[in-house]
Amino acid sequence: MTLFWSLYVTVLTLGTIFALTWLLFSTRRGQRAEATDETVGHAFDGIEEYDNPLPKWWFMLFIATIVFALGYLALYPGLGNWKGVLPGYGYLNNETKQEFSTGSSGWTGVHEWEKEMAKADAKFGPIFAKFAAMPIEEVAKDPQALKMGGRLFASNCSICHGSDARGAYGFPNLTDDVWRWGGEAETIKTTIMEGRHGMMPPQGPVIGDQGVRNVAAFVTTQLHGRKLPEGAEADVEAGKQIFSTTCSACHGPEGKGMAALGAPDLTQPSAFIYGTSFAQLQQTIRYGRTGVMPAQAELQGNDKVHLLAAYVYSLSHGESAAE
Ligand code: HEC
Ligand code: HEC
Repeated sequence: MTLFWSLYVTVLTLGTIFALTWLLFSTRRGQRAEATDETVGHAFDGIEEYDNPLPKWWFMLFIATIVFALGYLALYPGLGNWKGVLPGYGYLNNETKQEFSTGSSGWTGVHEWEKEMAKADAKFGPIFAKFAAMPIEEVAKDPQALKMGGRLFASNCSICHGSDARGAYGFPNLTDDVWRWGGEAETIKTTIMEGRHGMMPPQGPVIGDQGVRNVAAFVTTQLHGRKLPEGAEADVEAGKQIFSTTCSACHGPEGKGMAALGAPDLTQPSAFIYGTSFAQLQQTIRYGRTGVMPAQAELQGNDKVHLLAAYVYSLSHGESAAE
């Protein structure tokens, strides 16, 4: 804040407090001390007002708020660039003289948060580092690691993947053994670190409306072994042709998917995230889909992602998978 605005805030704040104090005392002066039955003289719908002074406790309450305000403004930053005289807010770490990330000192909500995070890092950092040095498959067997990973998952991932990690419409189930990008421990870590962007381009313009119906019928009957809805006008044989010329480039000749592209295994209807009905399949194929898994490297850092990867890995491997 520039000096001008700092003074502006200070003068305005203190000025208001002093003006209110003056008002409080000036209205009190000249008032009688004892209670009376006399009224001020006006009446609103028969309601009259006694000409009595403010009750003493009420007056003292006013004084108390003023004292509180002045005390608060001395302790905490509130007056322009004044940082407050509270001790212990000079540095993030008083022993090492480490500065706050903004370089400024004094009490602020941000500094409070930084201190809490620094405390947590000092406490948990060594534990995170210990697990980060172990292979993910090993970490996935450690109950303490899974507990920590589970908490990280609950606060960062469950909003999309669900608190039980079983996914939802548009968000994959992480507890099954079908993977869009690969289920190796290190691959899961890469997915979480760097994020993923599944890109299925719209096929409507490529194969036309009838083509969309035909290939959706092929997926329904040949890959999922289901019946078509009554009256569906589709040619499964023609759909098969389209699949091998257009779709197999990404989904593989047998429709079993391609992890490098995040193209899902189309023979596993239970792992579909955009629905398996004849209508939903046509929607997907006609307009394409773009699922985005946000990268966590910057948000969480390597050590936390390592724990998250171990947690996710454990959901489809080992004991917790059996539960
Ligand atoms: C350029 C590569 C590419 C081509 C060509 C392609 N797909 Fe896809 N497809 C993908 C990717 C990547 C995804 C995952 C999109 C996502 O996760 O949001 C996907 C998703 C799907 C899904 C959704 C699965 C689910 O989880 O709900 C279906 C169904 C599908 N494709 C069918 C087809 C059919 C049928 C064709 C041929 C007409 C086709 N795709 C052509 C790459 C492709
Ligand atoms: C904003 C929503 C969102 C959040 C938050 C999110 N994800 Fe995802 N995640 C997705 C989507 C969407 C996909 C599927 C991407 C695609 O279409 O291929 C995905 C895919 C994945 C995959 C790959 C699944 C597979 O089949 O290969 C893993 C693993 C994963 N997420 C783990 C996590 C973890 C761990 C977190 C928490 C740090 C997390 N995700 C947070 C939306 C999210």
